[in-house]
Amino acid sequence: MLPKFKLLQPTTIAEASAELRRLGDDAKLYAGGAELALLMRHGLIEPGYLIDIKGISELNGIGENDGAVSIGACATHHLIERDPLVRRDLPAFAHAESQVANVRVRAQGTLGGNLCFNDPHSDAGTALLIHEASVTLANDKAARQIQLEEFLGAMYATALAEDELLTRVEAPPLPPGWSSAYLRVHRFQRPTLGVAAAAKITNGRIEAARLAVGCVSAKPERLRELERELQGAPLSEAERIVRARGDYLRDILQPVDDLLGSAEYKLYMTQVLLARGLEQADNHSFEFRVSGFGSEDRAGNAKPVTRNPEPATHFNLSLTVNGKAWQGEIPVEETLLDFLRERLRLTGTKRSCESQVCGACTVVVGGLPVSSCSYLAFEAGGKSVTTVEGLASGEALDPLQQGFIRHLGAQCGYCTPGQLMAAKALLLENPRPGEAEIAEWLKGNICRCGAYPGIAAAILEASGQRK
Ligand SMILES: Cc1cc2nc3c(=O)[nH]c(=O)nc-3n(C[C@H](O)[C@H](O)[C@H](O)COP(=O)(O)OP(=O)(O)OC[C@H]3O[C@@H](n4cnc5c(N)ncnc54)[C@H](O)[C@@H]3O)c2cc1C
Ligand code: FES
Ligand code: FES
Repeated sequence: MLPKFKLLQPTTIAEASAELRRLGDDAKLYAGGAELALLMRHGLIEPGYLIDIKGISELNGIGENDGAVSIGACATHHLIERDPLVRRDLPAFAHAESQVANVRVRAQGTLGGNLCFNDPHSDAGTALLIHEASVTLANDKAARQIQLEEFLGAMYATALAEDELLTRVEAPPLPPGWSSAYLRVHRFQRPTLGVAAAAKITNGRIEAARLAVGCVSAKPERLRELERELQGAPLSEAERIVRARGDYLRDILQPVDDLLGSAEYKLYMTQVLLARGLEQADNHSFEFRVSGFGSEDRAGNAKPVTRNPEPATHFNLSLTVNGKAWQGEIPVEETLLDFLRERLRLTGTKRSCESQVCGACTVVVGGLPVSSCSYLAFEAGGKSVTTVEGLASGEALDPLQQGFIRHLGAQCGYCTPGQLMAAKALLLENPRPGEAEIAEWLKGNICRCGAYPGIAAAILEASGQRK
């Protein structure tokens, strides 16, 4: 259970903005809720009101607008990384989105939430800077469009006014003949360093380049001076030029020593990734590991939920769990994990880190894997939820469960329900995933016993690709 709050679910920008102005500091806009749930759980914030903005139609969808890709603030990382238009026109950004945290955070977190929270250890902003992206900010009276670079302030700060929402992000494709790359280094789930490079390279010579670095400084930075210096240089000289500009990089990025590494290490790795990024941008074509669309949301099967713009302490929840319908009132602050374990006594789903990191609490909601510890139960309204108890069909175990037993995919077993449910969601998305896709998908589900080879073998077997 998170601390108590009241939930509002406006359906227009005007309503949301008016509530922000009326409630002031006591209210927070709530998109995916991934950051907010963490902050509230750890007592760092205690808002009296959450304003759920996902029902505002202008904040959703991905499309083309005046030659640019236009992405609604409430589009999730999951949706963006798979979107064909984003992959075609903003491939380095699609790749950056596919690197965010783990599949569960990507299914829940939104682009707008990412940019507005402006955590320095983020990917999206860095990759969008090489596209010279802009953002639209709106309140109940007007909308304004500003460059993303101007929007992102020092860490956790933005150009948003108190009553404004970020509504859309517009990112033009690179000019003809350019290509791009996004590279990141990470020790934990959030990146230690992210580098985006775009360049036009003809016959081994850099005609023009755009470079951006994130995570080292308080906000992502474009490196315009270095870009100018690289203009006209042979690609083979790029590494030398980047290495010679250590002082410039130190001045602009101001790296600090912290738990993720020393300032010197971060500077060194920035230079390595900048040179590598330019090399990769030379005729780079992206290979996206994840492919299909498996969620019932996108298939349009989730039942519409009535939204209540008035402050509410309770929610009339109606959903199916393991194929059985359930309806009743729940407090709005109840997490899906508490709903399943305490209310329905489905204790197969495990509680561990409660921070979206370990994956022990993974369940499938509307075809997507979510961390039930950090997902509010009301969000599952109108959807179907599958837990580990719903995998077997009577006495017959699911092929995944059979594979876990046969290949020793479980040892102590604590992570196993989460691993099974993450694997189930993967097979819903792609019934025949390759080994690389399995590794990518499951990297956010931690097994302290190290049963990974058995888990991967079980998934391959359940997908009919291994005997
Ligand atoms: C364990 C973990 C690992 C992560 N790893 C990464 C990573 O590797 N790379 C990365 O880039 N990100 C990472 N993130 C961040 C994540 O990707 C999301 O960006 C983040 O969850 C915010 O999105 P949200 O929709 O959940 O925002 P919320 O939690 O709903 O909101 C975040 C903040 O933004 C405000 N807000 C939200 N939407 C709007 C809007 N439209 N207008 C104005 N204000 C708004 C909210 O009021 C709140 O202050 C990680 C998060 C977690 C929990
Ligand atoms: S991710 Fe939910 S308990 Fe670890
Ligand atoms: S089997 Fe023990 S943590 Fe995975």
